[in-house]
Amino acid sequence: MSIIEKAISKLEKEVGNKAAKISGRSKTRIKSNKEQKPVVTSRKDNLLGNVAVLNEPVNEAANTNYIDIDLSRLNQLGIVTPTQGKTQIAEQFRIIKRPLLTKAFAKKNNNLIMITSALQGEGKSFCSVNLAMSIASEMDHRVLLIDTDVARPSIPNLLGFKSQAGLMDILLGEINDVGDVLIKTNVEKLSLITVGTAHSHATELLASQTMVLLLEELAQRYNDRIVIFDAPPILLTSEARVLAERMGQIVLVVEAERTTQQAVNHVVSQFNHSKANINLIYNKVRTFAAGEYYGYYYS
Ligand SMILES: Nc1ncnc2c1ncn2[C@@H]1O[C@H](COP(=O)(O)OP(=O)(O)OP(=O)(O)O)[C@@H](O)[C@H]1O
Ligand SMILES: [Mg+2]
Repeated sequence: MSIIEKAISKLEKEVGNKAAKISGRSKTRIKSNKEQKPVVTSRKDNLLGNVAVLNEPVNEAANTNYIDIDLSRLNQLGIVTPTQGKTQIAEQFRIIKRPLLTKAFAKKNNNLIMITSALQGEGKSFCSVNLAMSIASEMDHRVLLIDTDVARPSIPNLLGFKSQAGLMDILLGEINDVGDVLIKTNVEKLSLITVGTAHSHATELLASQTMVLLLEELAQRYNDRIVIFDAPPILLTSEARVLAERMGQIVLVVEAERTTQQAVNHVVSQFNHSKANINLIYNKVRTFAAGEYYGYYYS
């Protein structure tokens, strides 16, 4: 074989390898939504699913950027959906959202609404999703729901999809554009950002200057929509206080018969440096039939 023939054969081999690599990469990227769609059957499965999702490596290529939320499943979980008729929970969130919407575009950053509580399990995620769904049902409002509870993210489980690249991936500089982690849904006016890849310094990242800059970017870039943050509890973490300073409005979820007035006063005093409007949802109030829950609102 001449030198030229050898060179041609080497070149052909290299080109062949590259072509194989390229076709391999596009295969992983072109994943149908169907393949990504999880099947969640019960609440218990949801909770277990959360752990599995957190431990799973997340990468940009795995982002579907669109999810189909099972709305009838949400109704069963007591969550408001745009197609649902008049229900008690829908009515309550209609009352809850009204004052928030009235103020949302009155002042800069008022469209940034943080949902928090004193302690764990008071109903932050439940209220965040309900509020987001209720606002997304409006004719003229779009909503971006961002899961910022890095220690206990629950939006993917509540809405029934696998966690994807999100907030942490932006804060870590793995993904540069917020638009790349934004997930559109079958609820036309609702989009989501998940916590993203689990990280041992997640709480520090959430309280970092990078997060402050990201909040400013979010406020500017999405100034035409309501941005709801499902935040960590105030008394158990420090990062929620940092977030609070950048918010236009704060909703404090208070669990009836559990959170003391002292705890609520303590939380409110933590917001001294925040210029945000503070609202309270008095949640899980038992009335009438035993075991029934109702959420009430005071502003
Ligand atoms: N008003 C309500 N009616 C019925 N169930 C509720 C209500 N509020 C909360 N729950 C239920 O209480 C449980 C805890 O709520 P949720 O997960 O929203 O709390 P959280 O504050 O986000 O908790 P965490 O601190 O773990 O993130 C969930 O099972 C949720 O479905
Ligand atoms: Mg939660």
